[in-house]
Amino acid sequence: MDDPSSVTEEPAGPAPVPPAQPPTAMTRGVGRVLFTADDIQQRVREIGAQISQDYAGRNPLLIGVLKGVIFFMTDLLRAITIPVDVDFMAISRYGPQQKAGGVVRLTKDLEETIDGRHLIFVEDVIDTGLTLSYLLRLLQARGPASLEVCVLLDRAQHRLVNIPLKYKGFDLLNRFVVGYGLDYREAYRHLPYIAELRAQALVP
Ligand code: IMP
Ligand code: MG
Repeated sequence: MDDPSSVTEEPAGPAPVPPAQPPTAMTRGVGRVLFTADDIQQRVREIGAQISQDYAGRNPLLIGVLKGVIFFMTDLLRAITIPVDVDFMAISRYGPQQKAGGVVRLTKDLEETIDGRHLIFVEDVIDTGLTLSYLLRLLQARGPASLEVCVLLDRAQHRLVNIPLKYKGFDLLNRFVVGYGLDYREAYRHLPYIAELRAQALVP
């Protein structure tokens, strides 16, 4: 337990210069913040309100791919004011997406039956779109009543396949970003904001 009385006093003398805030293991490698926690919450609330309006009376099922989407999904769910269900899939990639053409192996399938349901596929970031387009085809084959995409970050410059996005949070340019669920080698997911990853942090 912290006991303030046990803190030893600095010896008298010139006032010490406070050291610059050292980076912690959590923030080392984190560059410019692109979207603050407030920016994100504000935009997610707007999207949630829009979904609540568009899907009133349709009890949509939100589907996400683990793990990157967890923060966005849980905030979005809390911003939706109509009855809604949620389900998750998990995938494992075979290697560089361009080579695999987006084909992935499902390591966890949905628990819900989706035929006749109104689906909203929720994604953290769309880059080439290859993985997403593969997963959308897979879901479409199971006969949902409708299928739309809701993405937090859209890096449209990298797109290799056209995917209509019904809801979009923010546009993203070239830089690799971390935080708010997004990782680099499983690190930085838990940052409450979205920031660029510094080039020095990349493992060669
Ligand atoms: P793609 O659209 O098939 O190329 O793959 C998109 C996936 O790559 C996303 O779901 C993320 O898992 C990952 N990804 C793409 N860009 C970033 C980024 O800037 N930070 C973290 N993960 C990313
Ligand atoms: Mg992802």
